[in-house]
Amino acid sequence: MHDNYSLYYMYALKICTDGAESRVLLGESFHHLGAYLPKNKQVIIITDGNVRKHYRELTDGFPVVEIGVGEQHKTVGTVENIYAALLDLNADRNSFIVAVGGGLVCDVAGFAASTYMRGIPFGFVSTTLLSQVDASVGGKNGVNFGGYKNMVGTFNQPQFVICDHDMLNTLPDAEFVSGLAEIVKAAAIRDAALFDYLEKHADEVLERKPDVLSHIITASVKIKAQVVENDEREQGERRILNFGHTFGHAVEVLSGVSHGEAVSVGMMIAARWSAGECGFPLGGVQRLEQLLQRLGLPVISAVPVDDVLQSAAKDKKKESGFIHLVLLNDIGKTEIRKTAVDEINRKLGNYYHATQV
Ligand SMILES: NC(=O)c1ccc[n+]([C@@H]2O[C@H](COP(=O)([O-])OP(=O)(O)OC[C@H]3O[C@@H](n4cnc5c(N)ncnc54)[C@H](O)[C@@H]3O)[C@@H](O)[C@H]2O)c1
Ligand SMILES: [Zn+2]
Repeated sequence: MHDNYSLYYMYALKICTDGAESRVLLGESFHHLGAYLPKNKQVIIITDGNVRKHYRELTDGFPVVEIGVGEQHKTVGTVENIYAALLDLNADRNSFIVAVGGGLVCDVAGFAASTYMRGIPFGFVSTTLLSQVDASVGGKNGVNFGGYKNMVGTFNQPQFVICDHDMLNTLPDAEFVSGLAEIVKAAAIRDAALFDYLEKHADEVLERKPDVLSHIITASVKIKAQVVENDEREQGERRILNFGHTFGHAVEVLSGVSHGEAVSVGMMIAARWSAGECGFPLGGVQRLEQLLQRLGLPVISAVPVDDVLQSAAKDKKKESGFIHLVLLNDIGKTEIRKTAVDEINRKLGNYYHATQV
């Protein structure tokens, strides 16, 4: 990872993995997109209807492929529609795709670009908080299949990711708060100083103060970038990014709350488990709970614990009867515990509800 400043953007981070090199341009303006586009290539934009409505000045002048809004459109069928539109546009290896949108648009478009004609180059303009801090960094693209999230996909890096923080001003509150959960996650697993900062500046975070947003997004992206560089294909260290996600995914599927809300609940379960099983101080559990609540995120779920257990055991990350639980030893320090599903079945009830800490 190399840091590098320029007049054009506030902070650029180069992520180097086996696959390739990707530049994440934090604080860059979408008005500068042209500077990053390859010369003499046909540029095609993929976006969704919401984003297009807000940012016509960005998409006008390019051929645009529009996909549906919402997770139900993250399918192989949508990818087929994109292939068909690309064929209609005579797209070939000399074309370049720009996904303009949140995690969904970037995941679907990144996958379509990575597979159309065995792969054509692409870049992202990342428009949600969740996608700026998480989805657009790391090179995972894909779609849901057979009832499982992100079941079909590729590892392939975009050439650039423009993260224009001003675009977050048009984001609905619920989407903004959902993204905050991933920032708290990054702080909890790797960065005690960021955690302190979030506690001190929670109100300004909610007011979307530009310098505060810029600080917390940059810090989170650096954490993700470091982890991904060390372990692009999730053989070991990258698993820490799943903190709060093992049980969070189950809550998300079963209750239909947003990803961030589900991860928030999942982080609290993991924190209570950490306190009970690996010495995470109870004071740390309380700090996490207070921070999540101040940011407007839930800390418990009404989904019955038995349903969560059933769903978590079916998760594709389960490996022959074991689940890798990401636990905290302290704020900023993690431990991965390969835990038998039987043990999880026995113990989850103890840690599922806040009152049982
Ligand atoms: N590839 C990865 O590593 C990775 C990581 C985390 C999440 N994801 C994926 O990301 C997806 C969720 O991402 P998301 O939360 O960004 O969802 P999203 O792309 O569906 O965007 C959420 C909503 O916000 C709207 N929107 C986007 N930008 C806007 C803007 N600037 N102003 C106003 N409205 C805007 C969208 O139209 C949509 O309605 C999930 O499918 C998840 O699996 C991928
Ligand atoms: Zn997540």
